[in-house]
Amino acid sequence: MSLPTTIKQWVTAQDGLDNLTLTTAPLPTAGPGEVLVKITAVSINYRDTEVAMGLYNHHKATGGPAFTLVPCSDMCGTVVSSNSSLWKPGDRVLSIFNQTHLKGQLKAHHMKSGLGLPTPGVLTQYRTFPEYGIVKAPSYLPDVEAATLPVASLTAWMAINGMRPLGQAGGKGETVLIQGTGGVSIAGLQIAKASGAEVIITSSSDAKLEQAKKLGADKTINYRTIPDWDQEVLKMTDDEGVDIIFENGGASTLRKSFDCVAFGGLINSIGYLGGKQDPPGDRTNTNVLALKRNVTLKGLLNGPRDRLEEMLAFYEEHKITPVVDKVFKFEEAKEALKYLFQGGHFGKVVIKLD
Ligand SMILES: NC(=O)c1ccc[n+]([C@@H]2O[C@H](COP(=O)([O-])OP(=O)(O)OC[C@H]3O[C@@H](n4cnc5c(N)ncnc54)[C@H](OP(=O)(O)O)[C@@H]3O)[C@@H](O)[C@H]2O)c1
Repeated sequence: MSLPTTIKQWVTAQDGLDNLTLTTAPLPTAGPGEVLVKITAVSINYRDTEVAMGLYNHHKATGGPAFTLVPCSDMCGTVVSSNSSLWKPGDRVLSIFNQTHLKGQLKAHHMKSGLGLPTPGVLTQYRTFPEYGIVKAPSYLPDVEAATLPVASLTAWMAINGMRPLGQAGGKGETVLIQGTGGVSIAGLQIAKASGAEVIITSSSDAKLEQAKKLGADKTINYRTIPDWDQEVLKMTDDEGVDIIFENGGASTLRKSFDCVAFGGLINSIGYLGGKQDPPGDRTNTNVLALKRNVTLKGLLNGPRDRLEEMLAFYEEHKITPVVDKVFKFEEAKEALKYLFQGGHFGKVVIKLD
């Protein structure tokens, strides 16, 4: 395969979605133990919009002064040259989010290897990766669907299985509450149903709830028309509450999550779509709330490489097809990020490269 000497890539100075710029750069070359990947699909996450707006600053590794970088973390592509015995040209691969987080608990130093902040991301035609920073893409999925797996799906997988040991995935007979219908949520719905769990899902849109039912959601709640959705969850579960919660709303939902989780249940603190700080005058007394129902509140930050491989085997076994709401062209990356930020999507938004 003949390779270009110059490549196109998007950059952000972390100064707003409107200011993303398409630039050119020399073709990178793979160093020892590295591969060069031709990127074919980039899946975008809420985080990528925050990075482009200079708002992704709640971690030490990502909180310094703004600088210009290539955004985005999730890609599917093909190895075009390899300086590693593990990979050969033609291999289809996926990126892993924190490139050095290979197993076990995430540590602060792993976050320094995060793609799309603080390290250069994947919204580029070609990029080098260390041999451990990629995994084999599932052969049953086209690149556009496969690209969605590293962040959204792995985070959902960890929400359901992260507290269980590697190799002992579960969920059968458990009840899972999923907030919203974005990328993490819809992956969570698909994983939970394939695991034999019962799923209650919330959304601001009845139309999206109908779509969720088609994917197997057992019960649905419109959190806009039913603001006391926690009480509705209790009614739906005979006052027991749910075993696992995908806590995506953050400051606007955590209090209610504590009120509808089962005794001994797990609240995964994943997102903050409803804000990062409690509303003025509204204090969430997590100490007593956690104790009251013997709850585990777990901060969740994606997952390691070995759990991604565990998840990929599960996807392959159940032939799960990620839900892609809309595909944009590489030249339309700015529009794609704005579309995601507006929140009208259901599932994932992906950028397809030539
Ligand atoms: N911790 C991690 O490892 C990790 C990984 C990925 C994402 N995240 C975070 O998780 C959240 C979701 O990420 P994503 O990529 O799935 O985002 P996304 O695709 O942009 O999801 C957006 C959806 O969230 C729902 N939503 C918005 N405000 C809500 C609220 N107050 N309560 C409940 N749902 C609400 C909306 O669903 P409806 O339109 O149906 O209402 C919206 O369409 C973000 O905060 C993101 O930063 C964390």
